[in-house]
Amino acid sequence: MNSQVDNSVVTTTVTLISALVLLAAVLFMGASLIGVIDNVPPDDGSRKQAAILERIKPVSQVSFETPKPAVAVQLSGKQVYDKVCAACHVAGTLGAPKTGDKAAWEPRFAQGMDTLVNHAINGIRAMPAKGGDPSLTEANIHDSIAYMLGESGIKVEAPAAASAPASAEATAPAEASLAPAEPK
Ligand code: HEC
Repeated sequence: MNSQVDNSVVTTTVTLISALVLLAAVLFMGASLIGVIDNVPPDDGSRKQAAILERIKPVSQVSFETPKPAVAVQLSGKQVYDKVCAACHVAGTLGAPKTGDKAAWEPRFAQGMDTLVNHAINGIRAMPAKGGDPSLTEANIHDSIAYMLGESGIKVEAPAAASAPASAEATAPAEASLAPAEPK
């Protein structure tokens, strides 16, 4: 009777609605699938990765390059001597003038500090250029010679510039050695 009519109406309505919901679901899934294939990989993923990589790179590059040059310049005459020159000049290896041997150093010092520095930088006979360590600066060489002379009882005026009356070879380097000459 009435209830039977009501039931059939309800059944039809429910069927219709569920069919529509199914259709909507299928359309939605299809649309989102197309959207995923077309848009996501090139836009979101790659751009985010590139942005992250760019943020990471500069930090590591900067931290690696700065520290190196400062170290060699800041070595004191004694530190350079201990590290490089002592190998030969303590024992007089290869005929090197011994540290502390004033008689051996006096005639060499008589050549003038500039000449000693030039000989130590460029090498002379069995004495290798810069004692064999090319990373040393002119100031390092000057300070380590001054230290060796001091240990041998010969006093050298402290700053490199004071003993450099513009000899043709050493005008520019003399200025450079001014700053690091007295680290203490
Ligand atoms: C491999 C051994 C060796 C090392 C390392 C070495 N020397 Fe010498 N040095 C010599 C010898 C050998 C002589 C003597 C050269 C000669 O006059 O025949 C010499 C001589 C010198 C002289 C005198 C040069 C002259 O005109 O009379 C100076 C200055 C000098 N060395 C400084 C240094 C300094 C500074 C260092 C470290 C940075 C150093 N040496 C490291 C072997 C060495």
